[in-house]
Amino acid sequence: MLKNQNCGELNKTHVGQQVTLAGWVDRRRDHGGLIFIDLRDRSGVAQVVFNPQIADACHERATQLRNEYVITISGEVSRRPKGTENSKIPTGDIEIAAKKITILNASKTPPFYINEEAVVDENLRLKYRYLDLRRPPMQKTIILRHKLVKLIRDFLDELGFIEIETPILIKSTPEGARDYLVPSRVHPGKFYALPQSPQQMKQLLMVAGMEKYFQIAKCFRDEDTRADRQPEFTQIDIEMSFAEEEDIIRLMEDMVVFVVEKLRPDVKLTRPFPRLSYHEAMECYGCDKPDLRFGLQIKDLSDIASQTEFSVFRSVISAGGKVKGIVAPGCGGYSRSQLEELNQFVRGLGAGGVVTVALGTTPGELDKLTMENVKSVAAKYLTLEQVLTIARRLDADVGDLLLIVAGKPKLVNTVLSELRREIGRRLKLADPNTLNFSFIVDFPLLEKGDKAGEWEPVRHPFTLPVEEDIPLLESAPEKVRSHSYDLICNGYELGGGSLRIYTRDLQKQVFRMRGYADEEIEQLFGHMLEAFDYGAPPHGGTALGLDRLVMLLAGADTIREVIAFPKNQQAADLTLNAPSPVTEAQLAELHLKIRYD
Ligand code: AMO
Repeated sequence: MLKNQNCGELNKTHVGQQVTLAGWVDRRRDHGGLIFIDLRDRSGVAQVVFNPQIADACHERATQLRNEYVITISGEVSRRPKGTENSKIPTGDIEIAAKKITILNASKTPPFYINEEAVVDENLRLKYRYLDLRRPPMQKTIILRHKLVKLIRDFLDELGFIEIETPILIKSTPEGARDYLVPSRVHPGKFYALPQSPQQMKQLLMVAGMEKYFQIAKCFRDEDTRADRQPEFTQIDIEMSFAEEEDIIRLMEDMVVFVVEKLRPDVKLTRPFPRLSYHEAMECYGCDKPDLRFGLQIKDLSDIASQTEFSVFRSVISAGGKVKGIVAPGCGGYSRSQLEELNQFVRGLGAGGVVTVALGTTPGELDKLTMENVKSVAAKYLTLEQVLTIARRLDADVGDLLLIVAGKPKLVNTVLSELRREIGRRLKLADPNTLNFSFIVDFPLLEKGDKAGEWEPVRHPFTLPVEEDIPLLESAPEKVRSHSYDLICNGYELGGGSLRIYTRDLQKQVFRMRGYADEEIEQLFGHMLEAFDYGAPPHGGTALGLDRLVMLLAGADTIREVIAFPKNQQAADLTLNAPSPVTEAQLAELHLKIRYD
């Protein structure tokens, strides 16, 4: 090795020792006679002093140093002179008096500071990701990710799970998202697909008698990127034979508690994780992954709204719609432009607007409210009694702002769920230092598809219906419950899973509900049905988003912050410049022609 010590690990116990260090020049200070550099490697920084009285030639070379030069130095560790210690860094008591220096490589001036936590344009960071990753906070996150993966492997190994790799080139089957396709050179006109998840392979491994499988699995979905979504991401994928729903839920909880205790001992978790039915989550929060760090529950106001003279409410309700609302505590004094901002926000989500009702501008008791204090476009159509009933239902007080949305039930839920998040963000209601885990359970199996008579799985088509509901598949598909569960945390879906169908007939019945003809089912999923004919055991499993788990543990805002080389928001890899054109010859070999239209 070109070094025998790590910079960040030096301390008073090394005083008097001769060390050789290697790393990057973090910063350089020329104090006339003396030159100081902070030398950085992955472990941290150490101060190196070049003193012409100790080593003249070495000092002379040090005058050439610039930030990010790669060097190795040798010298003796000494205590820093009294009064010059730096208690902010672990190596702040010592310095190394350099006797020898080798410049291993020079560096151009980087496009952004490596040694400062400045805000840098994300695309620039991604183009020079190797420099971005050199920054200590990024190194910390990547190390955290490594530790997490190791802990998970150890945890699952201890419980008898074995890690099995599954192929990346598989068959394209409709699983929910759009597939990434790979053309075959050997089979003209045919394509492989990159796995959206190892779902079918892990089920086949259960048929194969592997009993307890896991994999840190790469998954690929051609969908729009978001803060918590990448086209290429990693799952902690698990499958278990002979397991019941409770076994898998408990396994997920135990695993998450295990890693949080090791990696975020500062976070206190409440066990068992609370459970919320899908129905409750949708009713109270408008979505199946609510941020439960704060309240602000959505309340149905349709009964009161239908009694008012406000035609917007009445017409929506008579058309089968809903009127629901939330409270924005202390926001009664919002200015016209702040209210307009909220209106724009909900319009961006596809709603006509939000009806705002300000209950006065300063805090006070509800009993003292008069209509003079109520500010709203709807005020003249509402009686004081109606305003008070709505306010009480929303747990509001004087000084609060009521946000009411009317429309089709699904849209009202979506809009209020996003408004709730927005108000939570604005009022900083969510404690950034907690991890609030909950399970969402009792998902329905199916929801109405786009075409009449077609039903889409709420999860994926392999999910097992609750046995007593199976007869309802024909008569009332929307009432069929499924054995599935999601783990949510701080408003993110962290993981999902289910028990699986393991018999041909039931699996075929569920595929038929999606509108597939029998030949189509055979062509797309014949391999699964056939496997079920050969003694498939009852089985179930789960997958947790590894990137999302690291993001939550690291307190990061996006999963791009915790992936070494993520795609940007336009699904491009800016470091490698992918996707990129290929040659005509490559296309010809793959029997492809590009049509630009
Ligand atoms: P699901 O589609 O819910 O289930 O995915 C499981 C978990 O993977 C993470 N995730 C993502 N993370 C980043 N970018 C994405 N595009 C992305 N999509 C999903 C989420 C999610 O909870 N085969 C089933 C699991 C099973 O039933 O065992 C599956 O893939 O954290």
